[in-house]
Amino acid sequence: MKTQNELKEIVARKALEFVQPQQVLGVGSGSTVKIFISLLPELPFKVEYAVAASKESEANLKAVGVQVLDANEVTTLGVYIDGADEVTPEGYMTKGGGAALTREKIVASLSENFICIVDKSKKVSQLGTQFALPVEVIPMAREAVSRELRKLGGNPVYRENCITDNGNIILDVHDFVIEDPIAMEQIINNIPGVVSNGIFARNKANQVLVAE
Ligand code: 5RP
Repeated sequence: MKTQNELKEIVARKALEFVQPQQVLGVGSGSTVKIFISLLPELPFKVEYAVAASKESEANLKAVGVQVLDANEVTTLGVYIDGADEVTPEGYMTKGGGAALTREKIVASLSENFICIVDKSKKVSQLGTQFALPVEVIPMAREAVSRELRKLGGNPVYRENCITDNGNIILDVHDFVIEDPIAMEQIINNIPGVVSNGIFARNKANQVLVAE
């Protein structure tokens, strides 16, 4: 049986097939994406430019010789490669285990082709069953947002020692099974003080690659 790391490498390698020469590449964050970045030098062409969804991915891209552009410098990205914390059969995802959800949503929204790369442990029948839902929140709204999330039926827990790349905090919403991902993504986004939440349903991946 393959280890989780071996599965991550298999799916990261598969994602190389979606990278085209002379396109600006969009890159998410997390350990599967880290492996994907480390494999980029194996491509028969050089990836010149990328937009990264986290400072960590930015550093990893630079380490393999890719120039990292600001999202404001591009209008579209050929492909965006990112991992996920949970994926349903419909392709809805939760993300944000690494606290990069907001930048991931921004970079994903710029791309024409969003490819999600996961190992089989991320497959769920319903979002919220395996992983608490991360919500990025403006620090002064922490308690107000927590109260609203409780009203929605969740149990928000402040993520200790975590400041996002945008200077905000994360609330992880436990005990929160998400029956209607499209509706709940919008409902949580509408709470004052929420920057974004980790449900990726309104802009889900074009393709989910799963290493079994
Ligand atoms: C970070 C993310 C990651 O894509 C997600 O947490 C999956 O990470 P990993 O590949 O390490 O399992 O959303 O905010």
